[in-house]
Amino acid sequence: MKTRITELLGIDYPVIQGGMAWVADYHLAAAVSEAGGLGLIGAGGMPADLVREQIKQCKALTDKPFGVNIMLLNPDADAIAQAIVDMGVKVVTTGAGSPEKYMSMWKEAGVKVIPVVASVALAKRMERYGADAVVAEGTESGGHIGELTTMVLVPQVVDAVNIPVIAAGGIGDGRGMAAAFMLGASGVQMGTRFLLATETNIHQNYKDRVAKASDIDTQVTGRTTGHPVRILRNAMSRQYLKLEKDGASFEELEHLTLGGLRKAVVDGDVKNGSVMAGQIAGLVDKQQTCAQIICEVVDEAKQVMRERSVLFG
Ligand SMILES: Cc1cc2nc3c(=O)[nH]c(=O)nc-3n(C[C@H](O)[C@H](O)[C@H](O)COP(=O)(O)O)c2cc1C
Repeated sequence: MKTRITELLGIDYPVIQGGMAWVADYHLAAAVSEAGGLGLIGAGGMPADLVREQIKQCKALTDKPFGVNIMLLNPDADAIAQAIVDMGVKVVTTGAGSPEKYMSMWKEAGVKVIPVVASVALAKRMERYGADAVVAEGTESGGHIGELTTMVLVPQVVDAVNIPVIAAGGIGDGRGMAAAFMLGASGVQMGTRFLLATETNIHQNYKDRVAKASDIDTQVTGRTTGHPVRILRNAMSRQYLKLEKDGASFEELEHLTLGGLRKAVVDGDVKNGSVMAGQIAGLVDKQQTCAQIICEVVDEAKQVMRERSVLFG
């Protein structure tokens, strides 16, 4: 499966595993890269030393390209940006802001820069600053989200920029991948589907909660604070939404979610923690290896594209 993304990144399949904070460690990243996709270490709120260690461990497990996702709000973002250069990481994806200030350093070091965007305006700005591709992430995604759906965002970003576009948000199988190609994307990024990967080191309670989620099981907290986050419905999300409706202060709301993702991922507290997952969770119920996930998604995408082309001539 050759696309502009496989060519750009030197990978076999245009499948990128989302760099999920607390979830995507070097085990997962290496497994995805070994399977022919692009694995990402989710640096999230990690200190720079830990990111360096994760990169070192990932290199010990795979010779294939892998990347790091950096959350630009991380207080250690400068040091992590430098670590990416020092340690010869091939790809960086960025969330929560604009990576402009690191762009020239990364480009000089030959790092491929792929910002995550939720609007056409940001996609165009990133292209102007030298991004190699963008991830256009729709609001169906798990975690921090924008407003537009994948269906409307991807084609508009594709029309607005000349660099390749990776679609994210709501893609959980080969049908989703085929649909993303039809919208003009050159690759897909999946987060929720990889939550159930065998190589994903999260508490089993988290995996079980995702596996049994239905199509209408996600809720969005934080719309009033300007930081919307999609999570699976639980006692915490219900309380959060009630507080938001009652006009609670920013501090009160923050207090409720502080350390919430860690609580769910590490402690397995899926009642009071933030069980981040996308709307596609309703479709995701199989625990498989990364290699099985990638093969199944790619094979199904090829099959549905063949079937549809026969159907419509
Ligand atoms: C648990 C979880 C944590 C995430 N953390 C991050 C993150 O730290 N940085 C980031 O850019 N995206 C993050 N995301 C978004 C994913 O990288 C990916 O773009 C998204 O999950 C794709 O949509 P999907 O969930 O429908 O597959 C996270 C998603 C999940 C489910």
